[in-house]
Amino acid sequence: MRALRCSVCAEELRPEHRSLRCPRGHAFDLAKQGYVNLLHAKVPAGTADTADMVAARVAFLAAGHYAPVAERVAEQAARLTRSGLIVDAGAGTGYYLARVLDRLPAATGLALDVSALALRRAARAHERLGAAVWNLWRPWPVADGTASVVLNVFAPRNGPEFHRVLRPGGALVVVSPQAGHLRELASVVDLLEVDDRKQERIEAALGGYFELVAREPYTRTLTLTPDEVRQVVGMGPNAHHPERLTRLDRLDEPREATLSVAIATYRRVP
Ligand SMILES: C[S@@+](CC[C@H](N)C(=O)[O-])C[C@H]1O[C@@H](n2cnc3c(N)ncnc32)[C@H](O)[C@@H]1O
Ligand SMILES: [Zn+2]
Repeated sequence: MRALRCSVCAEELRPEHRSLRCPRGHAFDLAKQGYVNLLHAKVPAGTADTADMVAARVAFLAAGHYAPVAERVAEQAARLTRSGLIVDAGAGTGYYLARVLDRLPAATGLALDVSALALRRAARAHERLGAAVWNLWRPWPVADGTASVVLNVFAPRNGPEFHRVLRPGGALVVVSPQAGHLRELASVVDLLEVDDRKQERIEAALGGYFELVAREPYTRTLTLTPDEVRQVVGMGPNAHHPERLTRLDRLDEPREATLSVAIATYRRVP
């Protein structure tokens, strides 16, 4: 992965035995599960997805309810590039990045996420996918201008870093929840609401760095088994508040829930 940079001194990283090493001697072990941990500072508790959240995400995504979203993300990426590096910022288990790489046989992928547990999955999600543990709010260990596309799916948005790592003419694909996303589940759990001004906040975070090219809303009604309800809640921000999840133990009927997201494409401004 030529684009990776040392997270201490920003020099190039080269593979050496079972690690990546920079010319100044900073070394980062390659985990046997296939990812590299470049973090050297603590991240606040509650930032990274936990083992339970990752297990819930893997099980829920495997059921295919979000497959049409991944399909649309892959379509957008294929319109934007045919090859090069696709960086997924907050990649989780690599579900979306793997679909993009399926569509682009000449591209490679880099999954960045602060959860090593999620990246164990991501590293196995596709043969052309590399994975590095990193906190997206810190300057990324990725060289300037190396990415053709940055993906950002339900994850933190760092506009200046998206811009820095993209090549001139590169693009950003953002998937975010719209107002009303999974709203029916509010009757079974105190959901953290998607605020009405979410899109405005996204534009503000990207302002000056990106221009909106297209925004495609995608809404459909899902029918979820009780286990799937527990998974979709358990893989989101509610999982950091276990007291909110106890009511879900008693759920024994399927529930309908509205999937409502926006898939937005942005062009990097020079
Ligand atoms: C809601 S999940 C979305 C994961 C994936 N994009 C998906 O949709 O399946 C949010 C992801 O962002 C990661 N994350 C949260 N804060 C982060 C940070 N500061 N730096 C890097 N990753 C972060 C979490 O570990 C988690 O995997
Ligand atoms: Zn170094």
